[in-house]
Amino acid sequence: ESESDATRWLFGYGSLVWKPEPGLEDAESVVGWVSGWRRRFHQGSTDHRGTAEAPGRVVTLEPVGGSGTGAVGGADAAADDEDRVWGRAYALPDGPQRDELRARLDHREKDGYALITVDVHAEDGRILQACTYIATPDNPSYLGPAPVALMAAQIASAAGESGPNIEYLLRLDEALAALGKPDPHVATLAAAVHDIRSSA
Ligand code: BEZ
Repeated sequence: ESESDATRWLFGYGSLVWKPEPGLEDAESVVGWVSGWRRRFHQGSTDHRGTAEAPGRVVTLEPVGGSGTGAVGGADAAADDEDRVWGRAYALPDGPQRDELRARLDHREKDGYALITVDVHAEDGRILQACTYIATPDNPSYLGPAPVALMAAQIASAAGESGPNIEYLLRLDEALAALGKPDPHVATLAAAVHDIRSSA
């Protein structure tokens, strides 16, 4: 086996952190991080976690530093780990099952997602070349940054085919905390959503 084969590993940083994709339930998986990226609730969801009228918000990866858009200043640049995203890499099954899964992901992520290759630093010390999908700002559903209160209000009220947007946020937050790798952006939004609910 070749651990540097990007077609074998899939890096999950969103729902894949807490819920394996169908076909991946029995797959080997490993917790690990990628650097040069940060996880942000900047992608709109008009199907899974929202509707066209009331889009939800789901995560994407945004490049940190370099010639990326927007200044990375103040608190955002403070933490050492700010350009490190923890998630879970899954070993895709061999053969036709792999092709089938890829075709399904390609289809599902077709609307504005780009397929990229990342180096995953696995907790066991391995460096795995993996593929993942990121939502890029040029896609029609992209929402981009907004004040925390506005993002939280949007997440608290949206729901789609896969269920309430809030479930996606809270499960992701809980799963990352359970791994001992809480993500401040996710935790801040989760706290803001809790506040909205308890004051409603
Ligand atoms: C995720 O949920 O992290 C994910 C799902 C499909 C492709 C890539 C990542």
